[in-house]
Amino acid sequence: MFGRVKPLDAILATAEKKSLHRSLGPVQLTLLGVGAIIGTGIFVLTAAAAQKAGPGMMWSFVIAGFVCAVAALCYSELASMVPVSGSAYTYTYAVVGELLAWMVGWALILEYAVAASAVSVGWSGYFMGLLKSWTGFELPAALAAGPTWSLTGVDFSTGIINIPAIVVALAVTALLMVGTKESATFNAILVAIKVTALTMFIALALPVMQGEHFAPFAPNGWFGPAGSSGMGIVGAAASIFFAYVGFDAVSTAAEETKNPQRNVPIGLIGSLAICTVFYLLVAGGAIGAIGAQPTALGVQPGSPEFAAQCSALVQQGKEPLVCSKEALAHVLRAINYTWAGDLIGLAANLALPSVILMMLYGQTRIFFVMARDGLLPEKLASVHPKWKTPHIVTGLTGIFVAIAAALLPVGQLADISNSGTLFAFFMVSIAVLVLRVKDPSRVRPFRTPIVWVIAPVAALGCLALYFNLPVEAMLVLPVWGAIGLVVYFSYGRRKSHVGLGKVEVHEEDADVPPQPVPPI
Ligand code: ALA
Repeated sequence: MFGRVKPLDAILATAEKKSLHRSLGPVQLTLLGVGAIIGTGIFVLTAAAAQKAGPGMMWSFVIAGFVCAVAALCYSELASMVPVSGSAYTYTYAVVGELLAWMVGWALILEYAVAASAVSVGWSGYFMGLLKSWTGFELPAALAAGPTWSLTGVDFSTGIINIPAIVVALAVTALLMVGTKESATFNAILVAIKVTALTMFIALALPVMQGEHFAPFAPNGWFGPAGSSGMGIVGAAASIFFAYVGFDAVSTAAEETKNPQRNVPIGLIGSLAICTVFYLLVAGGAIGAIGAQPTALGVQPGSPEFAAQCSALVQQGKEPLVCSKEALAHVLRAINYTWAGDLIGLAANLALPSVILMMLYGQTRIFFVMARDGLLPEKLASVHPKWKTPHIVTGLTGIFVAIAAALLPVGQLADISNSGTLFAFFMVSIAVLVLRVKDPSRVRPFRTPIVWVIAPVAALGCLALYFNLPVEAMLVLPVWGAIGLVVYFSYGRRKSHVGLGKVEVHEEDADVPPQPVPPI
């Protein structure tokens, strides 16, 4: 069962034959990473992190950034050795075999597709905020947010359906289907907008910082009150991990990169470093300017109890940071920079759709590679004659993304996405070690430094964050995994090209236009 390993040389030969144009350099790659990373996490989930950890969320950003950094070092070794598309899925296929590769690919659906849903919901919050600020118009809450899901049932008091999130998810899907190109220039402009918006935030919030806003520093401690799940500084780290997701999009562009052996690691680590600095300054600015103001201690953000406390506060004319759906705009408006609040809202409205686009693109690229390997129906990878895009898989993914965005709150979507991502990163950390043992002499253009420390730390870090997610998000992974196993044994196992001995099958589609929409 674990014997079906795709030979690394075959993967590399396939990559050689596919004539993807190698056009990206280190700067573009870093910009691509920053473009995929900065999004709903910092713009929206800062509020949830403040509820979970209070000012201690500064530590949460450090912890999540650290786990990503060590995972990125492992990613870099594999990405530079196997510079082909498919990300963690391809690496695992080459190293630990088809079954686990399938499970990683299946988990990456949680990472990419559910992340696209989360960013759509984040966009919806900022869109409604800006609309209200500019026109006074507000959609009824029931139509601008989804219900909340817990082990005890579904609670519709938070909302019924998130219409703006559906609209943005489907609009981005339509763009991808007709083959809209996000050019390198366009990506650079959007990155500039995001970075400028965050810089403006820092410049306005830091000067009004007050020391007393940092006390009590950790109202929920490291792990939250007994009986709670996903709370405290580590719980907030597990959620805010979402803010860093996306750096692996750099590795999925390895096939389009000049000198990937050198540039992919630069892009991965460079983009992560830039974002970490910004996040710490933004988190410090937000807390310092107005305080974290958690509602009752130990109450899970997004829960019906939390929603009830927030709506009571709003009725009294108070809206603490933790209750805001547009955290950064809220902070600026609260310190009397209404214009700047609107500007940051505008920046989020303009820039978040490109994060949705990258996540959707990443998802279709992974489906494409899995279908090419025979693990999913090849029809999914068929390319539209006129648009030259894999329209079927893109459309289906978009519908899934829109449904999830319509029916779940942003925090829960982010946590579910994190559970899949943490699993994929865990597998990558293990894969690096396995490959060092199995194939020690292969050329490694980038070697993870002190790998026997870094890779185990990355694996343990992923486990630690996973086990500090809220219990609902934690449970999604095994349930999703079980469904994945059923699909694999009823379909993929029989149809797998490796299983059928067709290792070189990729030659057949060497001329098929690659995913026609490079994300840059
Ligand atoms: N890191 C991305 C975001 O925060 C997914 O939106």
